[in-house]
Amino acid sequence: MRMKLVAGNWTMHGEIEQNRELLNMIVSGTTGMERATCAVCVPYPYLSQAQSLLKNTHISWGAQNISQHDKGAYTGEVSAIMLNDFCCRYVIVGHSERRTLYSEDSRTVALKFKAALDAGLVPILCVGETLNQREAGFTEQVVGEQLDAVIGLVGVDALASSVLAYEPIWAIGTGKTATPQQAQGVHVFIRNRVASHNVRIAAELRIIYGGSVKASNAAELFAMLDIDGGLIGGASLIADEFISIFLAAQN
Ligand code: 13P
Repeated sequence: MRMKLVAGNWTMHGEIEQNRELLNMIVSGTTGMERATCAVCVPYPYLSQAQSLLKNTHISWGAQNISQHDKGAYTGEVSAIMLNDFCCRYVIVGHSERRTLYSEDSRTVALKFKAALDAGLVPILCVGETLNQREAGFTEQVVGEQLDAVIGLVGVDALASSVLAYEPIWAIGTGKTATPQQAQGVHVFIRNRVASHNVRIAAELRIIYGGSVKASNAAELFAMLDIDGGLIGGASLIADEFISIFLAAQN
């Protein structure tokens, strides 16, 4: 039985005072909800704040990106090892905004995935297609290649300590959610692809969905057999929305 994960991706949002209010509301609003896992992935400058407000709570925290390198002359970069200083549990790798806006190719994403694992973090690997790719019938090819790049570098066993996030690019921040059936279809494709290497790891792998998840559509998405939670952007910045989404993951 896979425990659902609801992870907030704040993207480049946050302010010390607002964060405090948001995090405190999330902690109190989700207390007692123990049938799913909750996490927030915050901008680097707020990791220390997240750590101090969330330690000894049921909510984990993490970052949204890491360098593929451990240390060195890489101005502006942050290593996975550094995240350990803030007791992070998760780090997002390969978010489509990183792939498109910062030209991260699948090889770089795979190296970042490995760096996260080597540091003992749980990588949340994002995969997903553009609208053009979907309409041209290339969804499985694109997602399959993104996944294969990681399996090729670290081996399928490494997926046992990771989370996959299917995030169709056309659904991110657009208000246009994939239908539960569309998302389920890709999740099954991903699980089958992993199963072709290792059936047990595929069965245990959490595959979460991201792309305009809201309180109003979370329950129907999470009801699908292969949707094991959500990676939540905009709605993770609104306490009531995020709490309701987490509540929908309890069933
Ligand atoms: P939205 O929930 O704002 O569509 O963002 C999804 C996302 O990209 C989370 O990583």
